[in-house]
Amino acid sequence: MKIAITGKGGAGKTTLAAGIAQLFARQDYQVYAVDADPDISLGTTLGVPEEQLAAQPPLIEMKELIAERTGAGGGIYILNPQVDDILDKYAIELGRIKLLRMGAVKHASTACYCPENAFLHAVVNSLLLGNQEVVILDMGAGIEHLTRGTARGVDLMLIVTEPTKVSVDTARVIQKLSSEMGVPKIRVIGNKIRSAKEREFLVEQFTEEEILGCLEFDEELWERAMLEDSGGLGEVLLKSVSMVFDQILREGGGVAGANS
Ligand SMILES: Nc1ncnc2c1ncn2[C@@H]1O[C@H](COP(=O)(O)OP(=O)(O)O)[C@@H](O)[C@H]1O
Ligand SMILES: [Mg+2]
Repeated sequence: MKIAITGKGGAGKTTLAAGIAQLFARQDYQVYAVDADPDISLGTTLGVPEEQLAAQPPLIEMKELIAERTGAGGGIYILNPQVDDILDKYAIELGRIKLLRMGAVKHASTACYCPENAFLHAVVNSLLLGNQEVVILDMGAGIEHLTRGTARGVDLMLIVTEPTKVSVDTARVIQKLSSEMGVPKIRVIGNKIRSAKEREFLVEQFTEEEILGCLEFDEELWERAMLEDSGGLGEVLLKSVSMVFDQILREGGGVAGANS
């Protein structure tokens, strides 16, 4: 199953990605957590020490590797570079989670491709998934990173939204785009819900089928953002994510074989 997580900046994509990665790992899945967000890193949120992250720069910055594999240089390059060994060489292992620091694909109109994007897409698409395997893509904020290339092969698109009009509007745009790109399942997850009023607001914005669940505002998690080392999610968050996780497993059940 391949799950992509999108939504407005700050909505909670990385938090959700880290939470469900850990919960899948606990259920003995092999998890490929792909960090495609240039902002706060999924690695940090998963609790990878800074030195270890620094030692493994995002793939997009590995210019020589990309040039070597895509044969880029003279304006012509290979669209489907050989990347089978990339995961073994460059993933950071955290138990059953393999973290791939990818970096954001370049903004590209549908007509424009570049060696970097071809390389990144090849890496993600090279992950052939068995039953107990899951890819979790933590995407960049907003819609500009949502291209046909990144949406390809995604079984379930999770759109995170806060209970605000702006966040919901972004969610709607992503919903529409994802649907146009042929993503089979698109679900919204409300986040940082502080009151019944906020929950009602969100529930009213979407149909019952569209909305997968809501995560409560977690005071402890929020306060940790003030700390220099906010690393690791801990049990508090996992508890609130586990509610929507059950739903995700249920949704995923119907599409688990779609990618294999
Ligand atoms: N349910 C929640 N309760 C409290 N704080 C949250 C919650 N979800 C996310 N946050 C906090 O909000 C900030 C942004 O979350 P993050 O996951 O980095 O968003 P994104 O990846 O969408 O930009 C972080 O400081 C995170 O700890
Ligand atoms: Mg993020």
